[in-house]
Amino acid sequence: MRTPIIAGNWKMNNTIAATKALVTELIPLVKDAKAEVVICTPYTDLATAVELTKGTNIKVGAENVHWAEKGAFTGEISADMLVELGVTYVIIGHSERRQYFGETDQTVNARVKAALAKGLKPIICVGETLEEREGGKVEEVLVRQTTEAFKDIAKEDLENIVVAYEPVWAIGTGKTATAEVANDTIKIIRDTIGKLYCPKCAEEKVRIQYGGSMNPKNVKELMAMPEIDGGLIGGASLKAPDFSLVVNY
Ligand code: 13P
Repeated sequence: MRTPIIAGNWKMNNTIAATKALVTELIPLVKDAKAEVVICTPYTDLATAVELTKGTNIKVGAENVHWAEKGAFTGEISADMLVELGVTYVIIGHSERRQYFGETDQTVNARVKAALAKGLKPIICVGETLEEREGGKVEEVLVRQTTEAFKDIAKEDLENIVVAYEPVWAIGTGKTATAEVANDTIKIIRDTIGKLYCPKCAEEKVRIQYGGSMNPKNVKELMAMPEIDGGLIGGASLKAPDFSLVVNY
C-alpha cells in the first residue's frame, strides 16, 4: 500500500569528484529497485547528482532548507534554489542539526512549510536521545516532535511528507534499534499523525522510515516490520555496493 522509500543521507561527505564516481557506480546497481531510491547530498553536490541521475530511478534530496523565501540570511539556501536545481526531497530536522545547529521543533515546522509551499518533499526527522529513552520519555518526545513538525500542515500535504524515525543513540554507533522496538516506536508516530488528521490518512498517506545504523545485514529484518516503510541511511549510503544491497533488500 505504501511504497517503500530508501534514502541515503550523505551528511558532510563527498566532493563533486567523489559524487561523480559514487553515483555512476550506483545507477546500474539500483535500477531494478522496488523501493523509491533517494540520495540526499551536500548542497555543492546537488547539481552534479541531479544531472547524473536524469532518466534514472534515483531522486535527489538536499539535507536542509531555510524557511524564508529569500533575504539577508548569509550562508543559507532557499526552497526556490533547490527546486531550480531539480531537487525533489529535503531532509529537515536531522538530530545532528538539532544537536549542533540550534534546530528546534519550531524551526523544523517553519522549514517543512517552506519546503511544501515550493513543492519539495520533506523527510522530517524525529527521534529520542539515549537519556530520553532511559528516562521513559520516548512517547512524550515523539508526540511533541511530531505534533510541532506537522503544525498548520494541510491534510492534502500528507502524501508529500516522509517521516524518519532516528533514535539518536543508534546514529553512527553501530547500535540498531531492534526491529520490534523500531516498529513499536514508529507506531507511536503514526498514531500521533492519525490523531492530528485521521487514522486512515496516517495509515495510507504517510511513509515512515527507520534510520540509525541501517545496513545490508539488518535491512531485511527491519523492512519486514509492518510499520517500517523504508530507511534513512548514513554510513552505508557512502559506498555504492552497500547502499545498493540496502535498496534491493
Ligand atoms: P548511520 O546510518 O550512519 O547510523 O546514520 C543514520 C542517519 O543519521 C541518517 O540520517
